[in-house]
Amino acid sequence: MAKEAPVRYVCSNCGFSTVTRTGKCTSCGQWGTFEAVNPTAERSAKYAGVKVEVVNSVSVKPPKRLSSGIGEVDRVLGGGLVPGGVVLIGGQPGIGKSTLLLQVGGKVASQGTHVLYISGEESAAQVALRAARLGVSSEKLLLYCGGDLEDALSHISSQSIGLFILDSVQAVKAPEEAGWPGTPNQVRAVAQMAVDAARAADVPAVLVGHITKDGRLAGPMLLEHMVDTVLTFSGEGYSSHRMLRAMKNRYGNTDELGIFEMRESGLTPVEDKSGLYWNRSDAAVPGVAMTIAMEGSTPLVAEIQTLASPTTFPYPKRTSRGIELNRFQLLAAVLEKRAGIPCGGCDLYLNIAGGLSIQDPSADLAACVSLASALRDKPLRGDCCYLGEVGLAGEVRPVTRILTRLKEAERLGLRRAVVSGKERGEIWGLEGSAGMTIRHINSLSDALSEMFS
Ligand SMILES: Nc1ncnc2c1ncn2[C@@H]1O[C@H](COP(=O)(O)OP(=O)(O)OP(=O)(O)O)[C@@H](O)[C@H]1O
Ligand SMILES: [Mg+2]
Repeated sequence: MAKEAPVRYVCSNCGFSTVTRTGKCTSCGQWGTFEAVNPTAERSAKYAGVKVEVVNSVSVKPPKRLSSGIGEVDRVLGGGLVPGGVVLIGGQPGIGKSTLLLQVGGKVASQGTHVLYISGEESAAQVALRAARLGVSSEKLLLYCGGDLEDALSHISSQSIGLFILDSVQAVKAPEEAGWPGTPNQVRAVAQMAVDAARAADVPAVLVGHITKDGRLAGPMLLEHMVDTVLTFSGEGYSSHRMLRAMKNRYGNTDELGIFEMRESGLTPVEDKSGLYWNRSDAAVPGVAMTIAMEGSTPLVAEIQTLASPTTFPYPKRTSRGIELNRFQLLAAVLEKRAGIPCGGCDLYLNIAGGLSIQDPSADLAACVSLASALRDKPLRGDCCYLGEVGLAGEVRPVTRILTRLKEAERLGLRRAVVSGKERGEIWGLEGSAGMTIRHINSLSDALSEMFS
């Protein structure tokens, strides 16, 4: 037998809806205003008058975004928070989700917007202590510490809230649904209530989500579909740096990367991102080659290091950190076959300094030349970067956004770049204006003659 939807009670004064009939409305404070509503009749009334429209005839205005007050966060969001839009942020325990959102709340409040921070995990004293440490203080930043989401959301209209933050969807309870907070049904109901509240009040909302041991957002997959933007906040245990990325964004692209440093005073955006991964050393060491990778619109200088160690074992070892192992093995095979540099008698190890991971094929050429340099035991020029995708025929192909990459290389003091011969037209601007020497090559063999000349 189908389960009947529970009867709802709607306040005739303010329209607040609940499943529990109370004498006093928790939203407007009026007594005896609740009226029972039949859910079936309510649903029919809701859809009565909904008509089909021609897409072009629907009047739309570009959303007026609300700045989070932190440039890195705005960039990852695609330009700021969108009214009615819901952002879900997930990350490891202790990574700094609450810290980041309290800082965002403080910045938005200091711009004159009322912010409601709903904390289901921490007491008011804990949040206040963190706020004092981070230097967050604004009369417009309001705090609700408790587990009843319906009660918490009732303050949105009464306090003219312009942004609400829910920390976290696993820690609060939706009264309509049975079960403990954090169970799949509860998480779904909590997220739905938050999404409905954001849409109804036309205010942005940011929800915190826990993650599972394998790094996925905890709760039903539906959670990620319900919200407009999903962000991940991550970092390595040994480092104080934290990365903010968008996994899904209905209001912007998902390529941008925000980098922060965790300090006692909170999360500080890192301006010089390339500097994080590159420590220029004066000693020329064989097997080291520079490239410029793109993380969204951010160019990052990457130092590819390769070590070749002779072995007598019939199956030499291949280890790669920062570039996918299969890609590294493929590049070693291309180097051997197309450029005539034998790799079979050596164990090969590749590492990208600073723990950077590159998916972009533009690092192929740098990986090949660093490998050739290690195998021949000859260092490369320290002021040169290599940009190109290497094909199975040993050809070197152009990369995207070459001008942005070369400008970053120049900013960091590199003076030479080896790029694909097909790039010629695109980098005319840089050659005309800057002091970089650009070498065009068509194949891996050309690159090797260029580097060992
Ligand atoms: N006094 C301090 N100085 C420097 N860093 C601190 C200090 N106090 C806390 N931190 C940093 O803040 C982190 C905790 O941040 P936060 O509570 O925002 O994480 P969270 O992602 O919300 O965690 P949880 O999932 O447990 O809620 C700590 O792991 C630590 O790195
Ligand atoms: Mg937290």
